[in-house]
Amino acid sequence: MRILSGVQPSGKLHLGNFFGAMKQHIEAQEREECFIFIANYHALTTIQDADRLRALTRDVALDYLALGLDPAKACLFRQSDVPEVTELAWILSTVTGKGLLERAVSFKDKTAKGLSASMGLFCYPILQAADILIYHSDVVPVGKDQVQHIEMTADMAGYFNNTYKCEVFKLPQARLNEAAIVPGVDGEKMSKSYGNTLDLFDDAKSAKKKIMSIKTDSTPVEEPKDPTTCNIFALLKLFASKDEIAEWDARYRKGGMGYGDAKKRLAEFFEEKFGPARERRATLEKDPSYAEDVLASGGKKARAVAQGVMAKVRDACGIVIHH
Ligand code: ADP
Ligand code: TRP
Repeated sequence: MRILSGVQPSGKLHLGNFFGAMKQHIEAQEREECFIFIANYHALTTIQDADRLRALTRDVALDYLALGLDPAKACLFRQSDVPEVTELAWILSTVTGKGLLERAVSFKDKTAKGLSASMGLFCYPILQAADILIYHSDVVPVGKDQVQHIEMTADMAGYFNNTYKCEVFKLPQARLNEAAIVPGVDGEKMSKSYGNTLDLFDDAKSAKKKIMSIKTDSTPVEEPKDPTTCNIFALLKLFASKDEIAEWDARYRKGGMGYGDAKKRLAEFFEEKFGPARERRATLEKDPSYAEDVLASGGKKARAVAQGVMAKVRDACGIVIHH
């Protein structure tokens, strides 16, 4: 089973990215063949500052490594180290109808939020499909908002196979984990673009400050509270054991508990989980060549796979290149 997923280097990674996507990427390395990449071509749809893109790309690599991605087990690479994906994106665009892309929810969401409606943003799902298909990926672990893109990828694989009467592409499947949507400090979906994130590598003090500022209703301390509608409870559930979740559930319903208590516990969990990663990251960062070496060797491995698939793609559609 080959697992593949990507994360855009478009800002600081947050709890939603971790529980929605990165955690399952890192866990998958123990059981499956795992390809994880930094989607820097995709990030050009939002980051148009060369130094910033270079820095954010390196940051995502350090973040993954600090959080436990082991380059001996999983292949971590930069999208742009396999330039063949842009060639495949072009080829897929010639078998894909404009109507499919017009149905993409994320394009509508992003332009509604004010992002410029460039052709790159419109064609984003085609490049994503190329990312997935070029490695013959079986499973793509992502957050809920990405499921449509994976379904579109399977559609594009089918269009190509049908057009050229071949079986070049495998049809991939999305894999969701239990934390489908992680709420932000304001109760909306946590997202870089909403300014409501808890960033994974914030220092302890600012992380705690943000946690203590999470929005709650104004039910007085002594009264019973509804855990199912509470942001703090939703976040606690990501960290706590089943028994502890049941305990908090009971404390909420009984009354006599202030939201501050739940926030303090959340801050403790955050520190327990991400404090050690923060220290590892600081150590890794001291060696500027480490992350680059990991990416370079991951890129070589990924590119070899991609080149094999691309030879079949070109052959199927009659594109000749001189080697
Ligand atoms: P953002 O919305 O912050 O820009 P991205 O779109 O870059 O995040 O998402 C990267 C990955 O993290 C995707 O797989 C996405 O599904 C997942 N993800 C992002 N935010 C959340 C969230 N609040 N809950 C669950 N998963 C999320
Ligand atoms: N679109 C994904 C996101 O915003 C990032 C991404 C690009 C991706 N290519 C991919 C995810 C291929 C999975 C597979 O999070």
